[in-house]
Amino acid sequence: MNTLDLDKIDLSTEAPVQEPERQYYFMAKLRALVKEKSKKLGRPLVASAQTFGCQMNARDSEKIKGILETVGYEITESEKADFIVYNTCTVRENANLKVYGHLGLMGHEKKNNPDMMIALCGCMMQEPQVVEKIKKSYRFVNLVFGTHNLYKFAELVYTSMISDRMIIDVWKDTDKIVEDLPCDRKYFFKSGVNIMFGCNNFCSYCIVPYVRGRERSREPEEIIKEIRSLVADGVVEVMLLGQNVNSYGKNLKNPMSFAKLLEEVEKIEGLERIRFMTSHPKDLSDELIEVMAKSKKICQHLHLPLQSGSSRILKIMNRKYTKEHYLELVEKLRKAMPDISLTTDIIVGFPGETEEDFQETLDVVRKVRYDSAFTFIYSKRTGTPAAVMENQVPEDVVKDRFDRLLKEVQEIAKETSSRYAGQVVEVLAEEKNHQEEGYLTGRLSNNLLVHFKGDESLIGKLVSVHLTESRGFYYMGELV
Ligand code: 5AD
Ligand code: SF4
Repeated sequence: MNTLDLDKIDLSTEAPVQEPERQYYFMAKLRALVKEKSKKLGRPLVASAQTFGCQMNARDSEKIKGILETVGYEITESEKADFIVYNTCTVRENANLKVYGHLGLMGHEKKNNPDMMIALCGCMMQEPQVVEKIKKSYRFVNLVFGTHNLYKFAELVYTSMISDRMIIDVWKDTDKIVEDLPCDRKYFFKSGVNIMFGCNNFCSYCIVPYVRGRERSREPEEIIKEIRSLVADGVVEVMLLGQNVNSYGKNLKNPMSFAKLLEEVEKIEGLERIRFMTSHPKDLSDELIEVMAKSKKICQHLHLPLQSGSSRILKIMNRKYTKEHYLELVEKLRKAMPDISLTTDIIVGFPGETEEDFQETLDVVRKVRYDSAFTFIYSKRTGTPAAVMENQVPEDVVKDRFDRLLKEVQEIAKETSSRYAGQVVEVLAEEKNHQEEGYLTGRLSNNLLVHFKGDESLIGKLVSVHLTESRGFYYMGELV
């Protein structure tokens, strides 16, 4: 169904039980409400979705915006809106605190504009203590929902629009995946594609399995169908998304490996680049390495979270691999793809981490020589096993280790990422450069950025660029 068909929906009948038809029914109802409100105000209604957190959340926000646009809202990036959705993250406490900051400001805003609607969704809302806090201290919020019922967004917004109470609908888990809902993509030439939802790994520090539920894979046919239609719509690069893409397909009726899925995606004509995120070292198969190595479309980049270089800490983290196993994996990858760019996530200050453990992490960083690394200070998440572990590391010790790690990571990244200087490489032109007039910013297969002189009409196209100069974490180049 597409948005034009909303006119054909008979609103005098009961809402269908079947999905996604039910949601299209509510979109039609909502559209009438939005039209009426906008007529009263004498201007279009404006909506905004603010995203915190990972690529999954960014993709979810595109779905939220797709529905808001379908029902007649104009979409804005700013927080000055008639309807604002905060798509929250709770993986670390920082992300959590930021949301309360924004909500505080919105409380004032709503005093001036009582018709304004505020919705909260995403990972934070899956935590019962958060919802309690919202109910108590942020009574002006109109709608709260979680990660499992995002597909019901149209219905939820409709319900909250005709109610003057706070609507809360958070599910504990689901095995439901609803296909074929609208989406408002940020870029016309590249897109995220969910291939699975949830995580079964229960790393002992991580809250994701509690807020995103158990692993569910989408049917390969649905994924291929979505990518085909994206390509028909101008997309040349997809990023396959999942918390642990390497365990894709294990729970399908007809199980299928992630490597096999990649082979199917590769066959799609018109698609030029394939990326994926995130890989768990414990599930990274030889089959995948082989498929990556022979592929023409899969980018030569792998994000492989290390978390810690100490086998002792990895065990307590429940990561199910050792330092040696990780290093062997890197060796295998480099043997198959000498030019592959490796990036990672590292946590410092996990409970019980000693200076020796930390030295093991530094040792892996020096041996692997990552192209870049996201470094995090361990954040205690209520409900996870690590939160109640004794011997949490004192703040000043963690801070000191974090600074030392960051310095090491940055020095190495600066050296490794400059190794392409002088070469001519294929680049996807992504946007106008914000600093320099007449310049574009493009992305290499290995995920690094290059700035080069070029016309806006090149955006969304693959072009050859001579990398004339490395500036540490990005390049300057010239169109060939
Ligand atoms: N504290 C710090 N970092 C965390 N991550 C996940 N949980 C925590 C936590 N409690 C990091 C991991 C993961 C990335 C997405 O976030 O490194 O790979
Ligand atoms: Fe969290 Fe581990 Fe799952 Fe990643 S694999 S989402 S770190 S539990």
